[in-house]
Amino acid sequence: MDRIRIVGGRPLNGRIPISGAKNAALPLMIASLLTDRTLTLENLPRLADVNQLMRILGNQGVDTSIDGKRKGEHEVAGQTAHLNARVIVDTTAPYELVSRMRASFWVLAPLLARMGEAKVSLPGGCAIGTRPVDFLLMAMEKLGASIDIDAGYVVAKAPKGLQGGEIDFPKVTVGGTHVALMAATLANGSTLITNAAREPEVVDLAECLSKMGARIKGAGTSEIEIEGVARLSGASHSVMPDRIETGTYAMAVAMTGGDVLLEGARGDLLQAALDDLVKTGAEVTQEEAGLRIRKNGGPIQPVDVTTQPYPGFPTDLQAQFMGLMTRADGVSRIRETIFENRFMHVQELARLGAHIHLEGDTAIVTGTQKLKGAPVMATDLRASVSLVIAALAAQGETVVSRVYHLDRGFEHLEKKLGACGAEVERLSAAE
Ligand code: UD1
Repeated sequence: MDRIRIVGGRPLNGRIPISGAKNAALPLMIASLLTDRTLTLENLPRLADVNQLMRILGNQGVDTSIDGKRKGEHEVAGQTAHLNARVIVDTTAPYELVSRMRASFWVLAPLLARMGEAKVSLPGGCAIGTRPVDFLLMAMEKLGASIDIDAGYVVAKAPKGLQGGEIDFPKVTVGGTHVALMAATLANGSTLITNAAREPEVVDLAECLSKMGARIKGAGTSEIEIEGVARLSGASHSVMPDRIETGTYAMAVAMTGGDVLLEGARGDLLQAALDDLVKTGAEVTQEEAGLRIRKNGGPIQPVDVTTQPYPGFPTDLQAQFMGLMTRADGVSRIRETIFENRFMHVQELARLGAHIHLEGDTAIVTGTQKLKGAPVMATDLRASVSLVIAALAAQGETVVSRVYHLDRGFEHLEKKLGACGAEVERLSAAE
């Protein structure tokens, strides 16, 4: 297994291209199951999760072709994929595949909407809390599906097709909103989703579905109305920039100091996190080419944050912000309200010399100037990148193992940081 070696202490200066958003790419790819026509997705990130989902969709009958690289194209430029689900060959998504990536459970909705049946494995355990799917199943039931659980599988049926209905989520759920939205596009009649997730990725999905002929109003607010249509057509859509990757590199610059242009990034997609970053002492400006982050010398101010559904501070940036706070000039409190058990990075950050104390859903971080490199282990996607942020400012060498967690969601991390002056390299398994 690959590892990443980082020697801390260098500022970051230069440009980092921001990739297409993983969390938008996955539901967009899944939406290809809704139509027998070709869905073309541009700016798809080159990530392990994207490749894995292509394999899962292939099992259902989706043919995918990826355009070759154009001459002179940047190494990290997004790829263009054409997904075609002309014939659905299998409405079952097996455990071996779904257990590797939670989001693949969402194939339930388009399979049910288009084929009237789906059998999808329950995703099983996950490193960040229990993460149930009860709201997703409730949403399908509200659209007239019958749901049974059999030997670890969700068996969903709607032999006469789905019917429009009212779906009121008891808690904001991104996945729940994605599946409700996809299923309702092909349901008979109109659907109202209340307490819908307002995340930009939901808006991106709704925009793509609208290009495919869906009739959707209100995406991006907590009330979404969908008027079902008989069929959807093909479309072409460009995946939005990754706001989590943007926030991650912004925090890295706030940590090391320097001046970096995050190319193609949109600050409006993560305003809450950027406001907090400014309070830590970084300078953030939106320019035409992207988002510019500057930090000169001075101390990192401690700032308290609480994770919230969009437009609040995103849970997917919590670990990275904690990484930054480990070096702040004082004490900060970081409260996680979305997921239980999303503090696995705390123990690993402690190996780098961080002072963090957990009290229920809150981490109390006492900043120190004495972070020191050490061997650490990646535990999940966001947790592992918080170790990278801390390592960039630690004295000496850090080696992060289990890098496959990083590869799930960060494209060419070592190249992007290395190009800005960080001392970082990938050690391949053999080394
Ligand atoms: C998505 C993101 C993930 C992000 C999360 C919250 C993708 C691929 N993943 O995950 O990166 O951290 O949103 O912004 O886009 N819940 C239930 N029952 C359900 C569904 C959810 O209790 O049926 C709970 C969850 O346990 C959690 C909360 O609702 O406490 C929010 O989860 P949700 O928004 O659904 O997360 P995901 O869509 O899985």
